[in-house]
Amino acid sequence: MKILITGGAGFIGSHLTRLMVNKYPGYTIHNLDKLTYAGNLANLSDIENNTNYKFIKGDIVDAEFINDLFIREQYNAVIHLAAESHVDRSISNPLEFVMTNVIGTVNLLNAAKTLYKNNPSSFIKFYHVSTDEVYGALGESGMFTEETSYDPHSPYSASKASSDHFVRAYHDTYGLPVVISNCSNNYGPNHFPEKLIPLCLNNIINNKPLPIYGKGENIRDWLFVVDHAIAIDIIFHEAKLGNTYNIGGHNEWTNIDVIRLLCRILDKKLNRPEGTNEKLITFVTDRAGHDLRYAIDAGKLKKDLGWVPSVTFEQGLELTVDWYLDNQNWLNNVTSGNYAKYYEKQYLNSN
Ligand code: NAD
Ligand code: TYD
Repeated sequence: MKILITGGAGFIGSHLTRLMVNKYPGYTIHNLDKLTYAGNLANLSDIENNTNYKFIKGDIVDAEFINDLFIREQYNAVIHLAAESHVDRSISNPLEFVMTNVIGTVNLLNAAKTLYKNNPSSFIKFYHVSTDEVYGALGESGMFTEETSYDPHSPYSASKASSDHFVRAYHDTYGLPVVISNCSNNYGPNHFPEKLIPLCLNNIINNKPLPIYGKGENIRDWLFVVDHAIAIDIIFHEAKLGNTYNIGGHNEWTNIDVIRLLCRILDKKLNRPEGTNEKLITFVTDRAGHDLRYAIDAGKLKKDLGWVPSVTFEQGLELTVDWYLDNQNWLNNVTSGNYAKYYEKQYLNSN
């Protein structure tokens, strides 16, 4: 089986690519990534020489390039993660999110449709990786199920909702074999330090303020990234076509409590007196249209396919903190932008 993973150099994509390359030596895995600011081939340095793995630099917004690639490689399946993924960036530049998340997805769907039409038994699956943010915001109670109506509020979630609708439309209209999953907030190694947890982790290490939007009362349902990758693997192989699965950790935390926990863990790890890091917390102007609460009911995934998270939040956060402390070069390269220059050069030299 030849599988195209898009966005494999990003946070979740790199964990999924590693899992697929190592677990399925009989598969050929291609990783298509534009290497935007969020894409970093250092995330995959441990598997870059595996014979069943190949990196392809390219833009999913470029329809001609995508069509040529699909015709040349005759993929059997696609797992689509490439996206612009940061809500704050979507507020300042919505069009970029429409281009990548909507147009890019439709380009992939068109190319997959051609392969499927030409050889229905050969193209078996288009797996679209999406977010719980398409469901909008919850009040104090309730959870998102697969039946919850879409109600996106940010340009990011609106673009992801739109891409989900296109994926379902290609299933209903053209019979394309699709699967969708909507996951809650991920955390873990290789998370770009613009998102809450790695941003605060980096700032604590460097004794910088920890910017908490509003009063820090917004709630997110956190899942360790490796557990997301495991869920995608199971859904990819076992879900019935046309199905949607919610993925989440039953793990709701207010932002302020997450950051207080992180501060306490890092007081110990950095040998700072208890309470030192909490003094860095700084309340700042709230995000526009800030969703109050997300919470995923992942009961269908557990019932149908037996998936449950493998680590608790405390375990996952400790693993995450240890990874960042052991990989400060990664963090420094990412914050300085050096990673892009270095890997671009490596890539050009080897191709
Ligand atoms: P990320 O921003 O870390 O990575 C995105 C990757 O896509 C990067 O490697 C980037 O270079 C690549 N990319 C961006 N534009 C591209 C383009 N035009 N062509 C080709 N490649 C391009 O994102 P992530 O956090 O790993 O998220 C991956 C997917 O999972 C996204 O679709 C996101 O919506 C979804 N998701 C994320 C979370 C989360 O908490 N991070 C939760 C649920 C779902
Ligand atoms: P983020 O990591 O951007 O993920 P998402 O917006 O997709 O949920 O933000 C997680 C939560 O943390 C969200 O409620 C916004 C909040 N937040 C802050 O309070 N300060 C920050 O600097 C950032 C980036 C996020």
